[in-house]
Amino acid sequence: MKIDLKFKYQDLIKYFKNETPFEPLVAIVLGSGLGGFAQSVKVLKSFSTFSLPGYPPSTIKGHEGKIHFAEYENKKLLLFQGRIHFYEGYKISECILPVFIANLLKCKYLLLTNAAGGINSNLAPGDLMINLSLNGINIKKEVAGLIGLSSVSGKNNFKNFPSAHFNKIIKLAANKEKIELKEGTYWFTKGPSYETPAEVRMIGNFWGDAVGMSTAHEAILGAYLGLETASISCITNYAAGITGQKLSHEEVTATAGLVEKKFEKLVKKTISLLD
Ligand code: HPA
Repeated sequence: MKIDLKFKYQDLIKYFKNETPFEPLVAIVLGSGLGGFAQSVKVLKSFSTFSLPGYPPSTIKGHEGKIHFAEYENKKLLLFQGRIHFYEGYKISECILPVFIANLLKCKYLLLTNAAGGINSNLAPGDLMINLSLNGINIKKEVAGLIGLSSVSGKNNFKNFPSAHFNKIIKLAANKEKIELKEGTYWFTKGPSYETPAEVRMIGNFWGDAVGMSTAHEAILGAYLGLETASISCITNYAAGITGQKLSHEEVTATAGLVEKKFEKLVKKTISLLD
């Protein structure tokens, strides 16, 4: 059965119809520890997600629960500072709200960013990795509930992740800013805890380069709806078992904080190259 998002979020749709100051060009979902980006651009209007009808509250430290209408170099932005994770106990129909809203407001581009654990030996904490593909095998069934049996055109869109055009722009931006941008496959796990070393070994053996607990379902739906969708992972830690060290959310947000300037430069240059 397909979940009717337009019906479920009819109050939210009405709210945005009245409150939206402009049609954004790009929606950016800011991952764990990367929310500070919102302070580096001109914010014109902000909402607390707590005040939005039907919007679930964020329960994670470092996820502010804010939506900003902002501007950078005359490009209109929609920023999600804080996301909704499956491991927080929310339904898939709630986790994809940023994508639903980006589509509702007719964004052309969707940039998903996340914190992830590095598995491939060429990745180290502090690296940025553009996602060339993702493995969402753990969440396919739930996503199917959102898109139903799909249409042929929808299925074709589905394959358009990542958008080749958008990825090219991001790589060009990295080049112009002389930022080393690694490339790889993002592997989604449902959480709620970080992986075990055995799980990480399995993921690595199946060509997963980095692992995280977000993005896959957002990317699938974004592409399905026809948004040009791309994602960037901030490698915040070695995945479990790669070194002897225990993982923590504090380590994740602390490393993301160290990468913030590089991340900001890359995303700003990317925005300036969009049209
Ligand atoms: N695993 C899952 N999610 C993550 C990780 C990790 O190692 N790091 C940041 N988010």
